[in-house]
Amino acid sequence: MIQIIGAGAIGCLWLAKLQQSGSVCHLVSRSKTTNLTLQFTDLSGEQSLLTVSISQRLLNTSAEQKRSTILVCVKAQHVVSALLAQQQYIDKKQTLILMHNGYGCAEKVRKHFPNNPIICATTANASLLNAPLDITHTGIGPTYLGPFTDLAAVKAQTKEKGQSATQLQHILIPVIEPLQQAMPDVCWSEDIVKKCWLKLAINAVINPLTAIHQIQNGKLKYSEYTVVIQSLVAEIVAIAKAEHIDFELLTLQQSIDQVILATAKNFSSMNRDIFYHRPTEIEFINGYLIKKAQQHNLEAPLLHELYNKVKVLENRSAIAEDKY
Ligand code: PAF
Repeated sequence: MIQIIGAGAIGCLWLAKLQQSGSVCHLVSRSKTTNLTLQFTDLSGEQSLLTVSISQRLLNTSAEQKRSTILVCVKAQHVVSALLAQQQYIDKKQTLILMHNGYGCAEKVRKHFPNNPIICATTANASLLNAPLDITHTGIGPTYLGPFTDLAAVKAQTKEKGQSATQLQHILIPVIEPLQQAMPDVCWSEDIVKKCWLKLAINAVINPLTAIHQIQNGKLKYSEYTVVIQSLVAEIVAIAKAEHIDFELLTLQQSIDQVILATAKNFSSMNRDIFYHRPTEIEFINGYLIKKAQQHNLEAPLLHELYNKVKVLENRSAIAEDKY
């Protein structure tokens, strides 16, 4: 069983795909709802109505619920508070999968949930929340899952049971398999930090630029953005290098170009957040990179500039509390 925290575009996408592939799921949403139907439009435009199980708290009565995987799909700024709100319903053996844009949450989660196995995840699937419980799958791409730090918690559990570390994979298979059955290209990656940094780099370029200029991702191919994107990539490569993450300038540039092309018609999540007057994930994207730059005495003028512009837009619209 998988319990998903967060009824946003990505949480509902996994809910739909997991349910369609036969997994038992439950959705935790902060908003009270009496609607138990999810409207799902798939990549081919086909619509389906799915009956879903939703509540404001995790289920933890049956043995199946107590050992269910918890997939956290809220925005980076809500990850810790969303989990803390559910803490009393979380068993220490339950695996927590953190799937969000930006970086830096897992460390904080580990402090509050020291015994739970924590998996970091990054997905290139795109989804649009048309209305509450109404989503459209708009883009497909790989999803990577991998251990946060050294899988300390899982190792402790295997020792308890007298199992060897080589059996770790077996513990993780039941967690990963349903996700692999639900969507193509779901891979386990021991190198998840680099995968997350790649997504971080992509988001640090595409999201603020599309949010500030209120454009679709594809417009970033216009020549007026070429220099700024190249300079941003150079700043990010230098920061990553200081963190022992090796990105080749040209390869990173190409990866970003590919995402711009693949998601040309999409509005990025940050674009939508600014458009709908919601708080953005800038703190965990450009904000995270800026903090790392400061720690290594590196200049990051463009990352700063975009960060400041997004902050101005965010504050200007001073907005109602974001929902998960
Ligand atoms: O945040 C987003 O919108 C997505 O991560 C991405 C890759 C920029 C596509 O829109």
